[in-house]
Formats: sequence, C-alpha cells, structure tokens
Amino acid sequence: MTTVDLPLLPLGRGHDASSERGVECPGDLPAASDPDLVARARAAKEALGERVFVLGHHYQRDEVIQFADVTGDSFKLARDAAARPEAEFIVFCGVHFMAESADILTSPEQKVILPDLAAGCSMADMARLGQVEDAWDAMTDAGVADSVVPVTYMNSSADIKAFCGRNGGVVCTSSNAEVALEWAFEQKPDAKVLFLPDQHLGRNTAVLKMGLSLDDCVVWNPHLPGGGLTGEQLRNARMILWKGHCSVHGRFSPDVVDELRANVPGIQILVHPECQHEVVLKADLVGSTEFIIKTIEAAAPGSSWAIGTELNLVKRLADQHPDKNISFLDRTVCYCSTMNRIDLPHFVWAMESLAAGMVVNQIQVDPETEEQAKVALQRMLDLPGKSHKD
Ligand code: 13P
Ligand code: SF4
Repeated sequence: MTTVDLPLLPLGRGHDASSERGVECPGDLPAASDPDLVARARAAKEALGERVFVLGHHYQRDEVIQFADVTGDSFKLARDAAARPEAEFIVFCGVHFMAESADILTSPEQKVILPDLAAGCSMADMARLGQVEDAWDAMTDAGVADSVVPVTYMNSSADIKAFCGRNGGVVCTSSNAEVALEWAFEQKPDAKVLFLPDQHLGRNTAVLKMGLSLDDCVVWNPHLPGGGLTGEQLRNARMILWKGHCSVHGRFSPDVVDELRANVPGIQILVHPECQHEVVLKADLVGSTEFIIKTIEAAAPGSSWAIGTELNLVKRLADQHPDKNISFLDRTVCYCSTMNRIDLPHFVWAMESLAAGMVVNQIQVDPETEEQAKVALQRMLDLPGKSHKD
C-alpha cells in the first residue's frame, strides 16, 4: 500500500507550505450552528462585488456550491480564474493543488484564497519532489532517464508540475491524458513515460486508450529502494507508473459492479478514470467529471446509472435528475474528506475577512516554480484537440 511519507501534523497546529497539507485556520470561525451563515455569506459576497470571483469544484458541498460564480473540474476552474483578470480575489472552493494552478494561471496582482488550508489532496501528496528527483536519479543510473518523458496529472503539487516543465514533460487531465501520452511518446525515439502521481489514470489510459499491454507498465514504489524495480524492468517498460492513487476513487470495486448488474436490469456503470483498472474494465463508460455530468444530462429518462466518482457530485446529479435512477457505486458513504473541509463556516470566515480588508489563506506559488510549472501547463494547452476536461 502506498502511504504518505510525512509526519502527521496534529489538527489545528501548523501547516506545511511545501506539501498539500495544511491544518490550521488562523481565524475565529463562525459556529456551524449559526443560523445566519447563509445570509452572512451572501452579504460578504455582495459587499465584495466584482472584486471577488468564487470557483466551486464539482466535489464541493452544496452549502458552498450555492455561492460559486462558476463550477467545474480542476482545469476548467483554473482557466475560468485566468479569464477573470479584473477579480482581485479568487476564492477557490476546491483543494490546494487547484488553488496553486489558479495562482500560476492568474496575474501576480490577483490573490487566490483557499478557505481552509487543510483542504489538501492525499493523491497529490503521494508524489513529493524529493522522491521524484530520487526516482529520476535512479533512472539515470539505469541508463533510461534520457528516454523518459515525465507526464503529471493536474492533481499534483506545483513543484511536480515544475519538475515536468524543466524535464521536457507535460501536465495532463483525465480527458486529455491520451493526447498527452501520444505527445510524450513522440518526443524521443523509444520514449518511455513516467506518469505521476495516479497509477490508475496512467494505466487505464495506456492500456485502454493507447493499446499498450499491462506488461508494458511497471509501478515505481517511492518507498522501496530503486522503486522496487530492477534496471532491466525499467529498460523494458514503456510506462513507469508512480504508485499513487485517489483514496476516494480507489474504493470502488469490481464486485459491486457485478452485484448491481445482477440486481438492476439495464443499469449502466459510469466511472472516473482514477478508478482501479479492474473497475474501469467492467464499466460501460469512463470519463472525467465533466464527461460524467454531460453523460447524465444526455441520458434518457428512466435510465439507470451507477456512478463511480465523489459522492457530493453523485448526490447532486441524483437531485438534479429525478427522472433517472442514479446510484453511488459503493456500499458505503464516502466523500472526499479534504474537499469537504471547505464548509460554510470556513467560506463565511474567508469572505468576511476579505470584505474587512484582511487577506487570509492566500495560496502563492514561488516565482521559479511558477515559471517552470507554467511551461508544462502551456505544453498541455498547446496539445492538439481537447485541451481540458470536457
Ligand atoms: P477533476 O476535477 O480534474 O475531474 O479531477 C477529479 C478529482 O479527483 C479532483 O480532485
Ligand atoms: Fe484528491 Fe481524490 Fe480528493 Fe480529488 S477526490 S482531491 S484526487 S483525494
């Protein structure tokens, strides 16, 4: 099992600016029981007017999404932020790596705010810069680094995107991973891809979209010497998958798919490519968050669906489409705990602080990292065809 190689930070004490973790909220949060929270959020937003632009990721709670000026997946939101140069504050209701990407893509004058610094992402934390640099050194020793093109999923920290930028690599999202891999394999003769940090998106794309075999893929475990791989395995591989995963999408299992198919006639299984390969193999449709939303919007009334993605989104889709039978592809309730950190008290606190002239929880990527990360992001934007998840 991949674990995060970080000492735990006790809740409420300190935060770690160099990782996806943050555990403090340096202000007086309103009580969650305050009956005026909605009115307070509305008043603060009105007071800020055009100075603020609120972005809401699809996995956010309804109580927060209701205040979003736009909703979307991580890449769409970063682009939406970049398209609002007049907004002084971008309040990002999402997680840390998304706020970083927004900061990279917006002007230096704009301030990106994450209402709770504890809203990190465990998947992004599974690839730390030091670990990736060690892996690169080991690949150099094995004589393969010259043919490796690093590709990182959007769901990674800015310094991993910067690593890709300075090593001839690219960022991808779950809807353009195939195009990004095609690009990467064209960059060098006998190119190999180092895919960070989500092994499942990497494997699903390589095998199901690019026609590679499972034997072409090896998994680099950053917790084992040499990644747990021999030089020969590295030399023979086409895809070197980082051993990272999403703790939410990793939960879905093939036996639930079988059970649903046996019990619900005509049910269609719709999953995100962060799910395990065995689940994706059994699904009817696989695609990004935006793809999932569009598929349900276009679905016939009376059709039955089981969706394998974050529960806030699945619940919202079920509420918005009462004419379709929508269920969650897991036996137990599972939200993304870090997405859920952004709740109404944190949102009110951040908005009221901004309205009172106090900039709180600003996410700032240092200029050098920003410049190199932008190179990898720009390579993605320049890819042919779809350049974001749609
Ligand atoms: P997208 O928002 O890019 O679809 O990614 C899914 C996810 O897990 C976000 O944290
Ligand atoms: Fe990270 Fe998964 Fe949560 Fe997205 S859903 S923020 S990838 S842990």
